Amino acid sequence: MAVNRAPAGGLEPAANPYAPGAGIRPPLLAGRDAELNEAARLIGRAGLGYVDQPRLAVGVRGVGKTVLLLAIRDEARRHDAVTVHAQARAGEGFLPALLRELDIELRRRRGPRGRIEQALGLVASLAVTVGGVRVTARPAKGRGDSGDLAVDLVELFAAVCDAAGTPLVVTVDELGELSDAQLSALLVALQRAGSEQVPLVMLAAGLPGVLRRAAEVESFAERLFAVWDLGPLADEAATAAVVDPARDAGGVAWEPAAVAHLVAAAGGYPFYLQHFAATTWDTATSTPITLEDTRLGVERAEARLADSLVRSRLERLSAKEREYVVALADLGPGAHRSGAVAAAMGTDSSAVATTRSRLISAGVVHAPRYGQVAFTVPMFDRYVREQGREGRPRARR
Ligand SMILES: Nc1ncnc2c1ncn2[C@@H]1O[C@H](COP(=O)(O)OP(=O)(O)O)[C@@H](O)[C@H]1O
Ligand SMILES: [Mg+2]
Repeated sequence: MAVNRAPAGGLEPAANPYAPGAGIRPPLLAGRDAELNEAARLIGRAGLGYVDQPRLAVGVRGVGKTVLLLAIRDEARRHDAVTVHAQARAGEGFLPALLRELDIELRRRRGPRGRIEQALGLVASLAVTVGGVRVTARPAKGRGDSGDLAVDLVELFAAVCDAAGTPLVVTVDELGELSDAQLSALLVALQRAGSEQVPLVMLAAGLPGVLRRAAEVESFAERLFAVWDLGPLADEAATAAVVDPARDAGGVAWEPAAVAHLVAAAGGYPFYLQHFAATTWDTATSTPITLEDTRLGVERAEARLADSLVRSRLERLSAKEREYVVALADLGPGAHRSGAVAAAMGTDSSAVATTRSRLISAGVVHAPRYGQVAFTVPMFDRYVREQGREGRPRARR
């Protein structure tokens, strides 16, 4: 039994190599070589002046969109590109955040002074249009002050590429969270940047349904992006994500049956892989990590997640919203027709339409396709049902 094994080096909690949590870089970014290689190619091409389609990484929560964007930003820095990362959810608003980052990036750069100044001036004049950013440069007259955000953004992108003499790489996380006005400005700017041959590399990420939302704002958006559909990791990559970091953290091994159990329990989803592996590491006392350690570790992680993921989310909801969540969970994994959820609640879609849209704004569910609804967190349905078994009255009031 696991309890009788002597503690061995390398399995101290402090040495735990895994990285559970939103936006926390994993020790090994597994199974994303295709996307990383493509991004490296785009950055290289932009350096030669070529213009390519923006990329949009689409996937459910926890599939690894944010850390992929971060890895691409690292790659861009290695190429000495000007890199800006902005999260649409940012408290100060997306465009001010983007401009602030650009301002900081430009100030750090060495380059033809006049041009850098000019680009900074454009950032400043746009900041005036957008509001809310403190920048010190004088707004430039005549450029970047058209009052049309999209036009100004294109000029800004062009000026930055020109000034720095290296590609500009922009990553935008949670694209679907942008306000209509800012999303529209960004989309129009991207389209114009393409037709005006601005060597800008643009990579965005969003939940399934983000493309539909973008197309609602600007109909050309559907053709604007090349989409990276991010799904759960294939078995081989998922196995590497678990096994390699342990080996690198001091020669800790996983029994094959143990990893297989973990990967299956996680459904290959990176978020669960990290959580399950981290708890299993803390559960095990010596190498190799066994199937029994893993069963226990996964069980502990699931109990914690049911609590932190589900309870924290459900507690913020109204009774009606919770009822909707429980009905959706009872329908099982994946997407379901809105009508089916309403029917399970003994009513029709129109009667729960506002409940559904409030849950979408709260980020609990999303509409992967028109008329459909699904949880934003994979396997969330299971946790809701488990949580329900322990304390359904909590969830139903
Ligand atoms: N390719 C990957 N290999 C291993 N772990 C990953 C991978 N992608 C993401 N993760 C891990 O999964 C979790 C969620 O990643 P995150 O980028 O926040 O997802 P998302 O932005 O899609 O919600 C983090 O703990 C991260 O370290
Ligand atoms: Mg994210």
